[in-house]
Amino acid sequence: VLLGIDHVGIACRDIHGSMRRYRELFGLDVVRFEERPASGVLEAMLAVSPTALTTAVGGARDGHRVVSYVQLLQPLRDDTALGRFLHEHGEGIQHVGYAVADLASVVPELERRGARLVPDMPAHGILGSSIAFLEPSSAAGVLTELVEIDEHR
Ligand code: CO
Repeated sequence: VLLGIDHVGIACRDIHGSMRRYRELFGLDVVRFEERPASGVLEAMLAVSPTALTTAVGGARDGHRVVSYVQLLQPLRDDTALGRFLHEHGEGIQHVGYAVADLASVVPELERRGARLVPDMPAHGILGSSIAFLEPSSAAGVLTELVEIDEHR
């Protein structure tokens, strides 16, 4: 069902400061920055392995990309899930995003296995992906995102 870890979502208060920190510390480049007012967040995707990205273009196994990302998230408003998370927990890991091949078949299958979907979450993520979220109670307390990759990203 899960093809790999696509990204780890990290809540932060100052996304520009965090992008600088991840660059200084780990050498990670920001491959996409988006302001998403409808979702109330600023998002940055940092490629963990640019070398792997190049390799993936050449021929990742099964046609799936091997690069993974750190997703930095800063809430634009307090009255969002992310805003509440920061208030309650402070900065840190907010969710884990797994790559799946076909969201339309994976979601009903996981529901059949007892997973609960988070209602009213954005259906489209950064970098052209289609996404869905499982309630933390479905996955050992972790907000779990399923990501169907846009092949052209
Ligand atoms: Co995410």
